[in-house]
Amino acid sequence: MVFNKVYIIKSPKLVSAVRRNHRTMSFEPLVTSTSKCVAGVSGPGLQLLRGKESQGQGLGHEVIAALRPTLLGEGLDQMNTTMVECLHQGVQELKSHDGVLDLYDWCSLVTTIASTDAVYGPMNPYKEDKARKSYWDIEHNLSSLMVGVAPWLLARKPWKGREYLTKAFLQYYQSGGHLESSQLANARWKTQNDAGATLEDIARLEVAMGLGILSNTVPTSFWVIFDIFSRPKLLEEIREEIWQNAVSINSEGLHTVDLADVQAKCPLLLAAYQETLRVRSNAAQFRVIFEDTMLDGSCLVKKGSILVMPAAVINRNESIWGSDADTFDPQHILATGGKQSKASGFMSFGAAPHMCAGRHFATGEILALLSMLILQFDISPVGGKWVEPPTNVKAVAASLSPPMGRTSVHITEEKELKGVEWHFALTPGRGRHGLVVG
Ligand code: HEM
Repeated sequence: MVFNKVYIIKSPKLVSAVRRNHRTMSFEPLVTSTSKCVAGVSGPGLQLLRGKESQGQGLGHEVIAALRPTLLGEGLDQMNTTMVECLHQGVQELKSHDGVLDLYDWCSLVTTIASTDAVYGPMNPYKEDKARKSYWDIEHNLSSLMVGVAPWLLARKPWKGREYLTKAFLQYYQSGGHLESSQLANARWKTQNDAGATLEDIARLEVAMGLGILSNTVPTSFWVIFDIFSRPKLLEEIREEIWQNAVSINSEGLHTVDLADVQAKCPLLLAAYQETLRVRSNAAQFRVIFEDTMLDGSCLVKKGSILVMPAAVINRNESIWGSDADTFDPQHILATGGKQSKASGFMSFGAAPHMCAGRHFATGEILALLSMLILQFDISPVGGKWVEPPTNVKAVAASLSPPMGRTSVHITEEKELKGVEWHFALTPGRGRHGLVVG
């Protein structure tokens, strides 16, 4: 794509103006480009997906509109149930693991299985090692695939991954896997099928959906664990907060953690999670400008240009977050009083009308994982000192860049809790979180 100009929005005030003027701009051309370069959809299939403003049939937009309601209400409750069961199982297995683990690899495995089992049901293609490896080959080398030139030659590794995963999804649909899945997977398939998309193109687009489901949840879970466990005082405060407000013990010694209470009564935990998202997000929201648009009465953005809103700058705006805006401190979020009043200074979930549709699911997953780990385990780095790893900036879909190299840790069960039986309880209708959003 060629654009006249690139405008970079750095001020929260202009973010609000972009939100108000959303009708003259769209990020659909970038979605179409992802469908083409990442998923490999072409010809009539791509024309179906392309936005109406670009003379396509607008199916890409319809698919996102169809999935939004499935990530709330009953659809969200259903996915949360499977997700918590999978996380619980993955965390329990740590108890029999005696030795050193790479923290990122472990987070990646546990959250990939939990997220995708929740979305795709019993025939989840990501259960297979090779499918997961194929996905991460795509994700970690996305920038070369996005170039879109002879990917079988110039982006061979991610291209092979994509073709393998496409076949796995094709088989999934042919075997009726989507009929036993979540509302989310079913609605995506139905919307495309009703519009006349081929099964192969539906499978291709589902490979790209992995970027929404996994690319942010996996590195975010790693970084929140890193940020909390590397601060012993914060860790102790959060541990105490969860014990006091969300754990009950019955007469047989069963420890029940009420995840609705974790969400509603553990503000420090929720703040620490959002603070990691605030200081570590590199999300860059793009909008293509369709008509000359005046922002906030002072800034004219011209038709045919592209506008970028970088979270890394906006999330650290000192007029919103104070003079220590660059520093990790959950008090920044606690000071909002849960009123979302810093909204235009928090871009980690994007900006309306394209706000992240999966934020409640992702938040529920990461808070559940944190509760399980914080209550039951100590995590300490091999060598005794937490050292922040460098990040992989080639993983361009990840708004929190994944770490490069190993983060080797010991994960040990709290001695006095050995033998305790745990239950992580969900309450239907309580899957939405009071998050600061853009
Ligand atoms: C911590 C985890 C996550 C983070 C930080 C995150 C962040 C984001 C961001 C920054 C955007 C772009 C919004 C814009 O351009 O204005 C976005 C969009 C989106 N996300 Fe997420 N996301 C996460 C998890 C998820 C999950 C788990 C799902 C699905 C199950 C999901 C589904 C989507 C969808 C469908 C959109 C496009 C919305 C639209 O175009 O209207 N996300 N997300």
